[in-house]
Amino acid sequence: MLTEKQCLQIRACSKDEESFKVLLDILSSQQKSLEHAKSEFFSVIGHELRTPLTAIQGSLALLDREVAGPLPEKARNMIEIAIDNSIRLRDLINYFLDLQMLESGEVKLQLQPVELQPLLNQAATNLKPFAARRQIELILHEKVRNIRVEADSDRLMQVISNLLSNAIKFSPSSSRITITIDSHDTTGCFSITDQGPGIAESLQPLVFGKFVQADVGNDRKSGGAGLGLSICKAIVEQLNGKIGFTTIPGAGTTFYVELPVAAPDAVFAHRRGRSATVSSS
Ligand SMILES: Nc1ncnc2c1ncn2[C@@H]1O[C@H](COP(=O)(O)OP(=O)(O)OP(=O)(O)O)[C@@H](O)[C@H]1O
Ligand SMILES: [Mg+2]
Repeated sequence: MLTEKQCLQIRACSKDEESFKVLLDILSSQQKSLEHAKSEFFSVIGHELRTPLTAIQGSLALLDREVAGPLPEKARNMIEIAIDNSIRLRDLINYFLDLQMLESGEVKLQLQPVELQPLLNQAATNLKPFAARRQIELILHEKVRNIRVEADSDRLMQVISNLLSNAIKFSPSSSRITITIDSHDTTGCFSITDQGPGIAESLQPLVFGKFVQADVGNDRKSGGAGLGLSICKAIVEQLNGKIGFTTIPGAGTTFYVELPVAAPDAVFAHRRGRSATVSSS
């Protein structure tokens, strides 16, 4: 789709209404074929990269299990490094292709009523071992109960897992992460608040961009590719929702997601004040 600004520019170059329409048609169809070519390109690249990578991973796994004979200690370390990096590469390719498909609208989301509490609880339970390693406590607080939103539950789980794993990854040891469920009028929302370093002012406008990370260059302490938040944004926008954050550098960050409620009657089962510790050290 051409943007409003592009349309205005085309109009400014057109002699009259007729030539404006012709120009608009030509450019729109060119843009469509470019988008198609781009998405074809990514799917071919994805396939061409994933197939040999799967073979590499298979061979490395066999070597690691000493199927080809016992390995000296040095070789074992090298194989471990190769395996770790092949996993990083596989994740990066999968993330990148997923984002590409989401942004091009190729992914059709299955909308249905999804209750937030079980999904958030499941995500917290899944990430409990990751949090427990650094004595990080996860608290789930339902300000309003039985909130159901209109969403694709697998994709929403992906958003929650990305946000929660970020919160854990950037939290100091022995800190607390609070997951809060709430509702406002026609939206159901959840937020994830950590006591981490916050997001520097210079990074804040870029944080939902691709390959954006606070630690760049050789100092990528946290790992990852810098694609998680772009994927979250693409999913939440396709769910007609809103994603954002508030942060205090040095004190912590809250990421929040707002989604349309699924059914009005599900929203008003207000029973204030239920909190639960999902996991702790
Ligand atoms: N809760 C948070 N606290 C502090 N910084 C954060 C937080 N969440 C995200 N960030 C910053 O935003 C950057 C982008 O996050 P994003 O999830 O997109 O990438 P990533 O976690 O680095 O890698 P990936 O998600 O691809 O594995 C992070 O690298 C970090 O600098
Ligand atoms: Mg991430």
